[in-house]
Amino acid sequence: MRILVIGTGAREHALVRALATGSDGPHELHAAPGNPGIAALAMLHPVEATDGAAVAALARDLAADLVVVGPEAPLVAGVADAVREAGIAAFGPGREAAALEGSKAFAKDVMAAAAVPTAMAHVCTTVDEVESALDAFGAPYVVKDDGLAAGKGVVVTSDRAEALAHARACLTNTVVIEEYLDGPEVSLFCVTDGATVVPLVPAQDSKRAYDGDEGPNTGGMGAYSPLPWAPPGLVDEVVTRIAQPTVDEMARRGTPFAGVLYVGLALTSRGTRVVEFNARFGDPETQVVLARLATPLATVLHAAATMRLADVPPLRWRDEAAVTVVVAAHGYPGDVRSGDPITGIAEAEATGVHVLHAGTRVTDDGALVAAGGRVLSVVGTGADLAAARASAYAGVERIALPGSHHRGDIALAASRGDVTASSWPAAGEVAP
Ligand code: AMP
Ligand code: GLY
Repeated sequence: MRILVIGTGAREHALVRALATGSDGPHELHAAPGNPGIAALAMLHPVEATDGAAVAALARDLAADLVVVGPEAPLVAGVADAVREAGIAAFGPGREAAALEGSKAFAKDVMAAAAVPTAMAHVCTTVDEVESALDAFGAPYVVKDDGLAAGKGVVVTSDRAEALAHARACLTNTVVIEEYLDGPEVSLFCVTDGATVVPLVPAQDSKRAYDGDEGPNTGGMGAYSPLPWAPPGLVDEVVTRIAQPTVDEMARRGTPFAGVLYVGLALTSRGTRVVEFNARFGDPETQVVLARLATPLATVLHAAATMRLADVPPLRWRDEAAVTVVVAAHGYPGDVRSGDPITGIAEAEATGVHVLHAGTRVTDDGALVAAGGRVLSVVGTGADLAAARASAYAGVERIALPGSHHRGDIALAASRGDVTASSWPAAGEVAP
């Protein structure tokens, strides 16, 4: 197949790598705009990811068989619609269906209609509404910007003044105030063609910037899979009670959701709850999930893009653990410093990891430099989480990027057996 991948991140590098190594290949791979890591595996095209007409024109010129749209911004902008209108198969929901991620208020409405368990929420447009919602739920407060914010639009705090300040800052838009969900988080990606739902394996992302889950929320500082602590039956439960009802509700509304439904969950003391839906693969969870996938990815994505997912045999997985550690630029998630030189990637890969590029750029004189917040994702695999962790961190040690930071505790608690899903009433049921 001739496949065009849209996006620039480590998630897209992981997708391209999985497409390049699948046993259904070789495929002819293209990316737009891509990044220097992707350039080793695919031909890059300087097309803006959010420009639907330009992406569709490129796909037509290439006579692509499949276009895979990675990030949320082009999906919400309707890039998958533009590609489909050009008669080319696209993996990713159209603009209206991508509102499941693009608007938290819309997602809450769909969840209510589909009886999907999620945090109680108030959608607010005035300071008065915000204040009474904060007081109704009490601390800790959860305040969310309604629109897309790259994982940074959410503030979780016990400080009422801080909660109110964030709400005020978001009030040019709609603000969602939510009930606080305790318990460990799980990301489960469900591939769907709008009718059939095929879950991938669950992963956990570390969203806070610093060790011990301290500091501000980020796009994600690391991830691991599998989750040895996850209750048996979790995946089936999530498909039956969350993903399939959501996909069915979207179809019922006449806006079928095809692509990947990212189900972000909290396993709370009162049962499983949806924290968020995203309309795309997660970053950095994709880096570990795809490291474990044995079934060729291109076959799965093409089937989802052409309404033939029901024909795909059950997915096969490697009996290995995977851990990814994000190397972030100086200042991330605040004002990041660009232009610092990156060295040691080949040395890291010689230890057995693979290094995925996110915010990198090659200068005119050929040097690789930082050009974004999350710069690299280093992926290690091993027989269990402890071995995968050791591998990933041995790789990270080889990489030099002045001023960079990374978390030292990705998958640490899980590898020691210290994570527990406190209790496990079925979704929607209340524990005694
Ligand atoms: P979101 O943008 O909705 O994914 O939220 C980003 C992060 O904020 C989540 O991954 C959680 O860690 C945290 N968060 C969001 N909603 C809640 C909630 N209702 N209770 C506790 N933490 C939350
Ligand atoms: N890792 C969180 C996200 O992709 O939204």
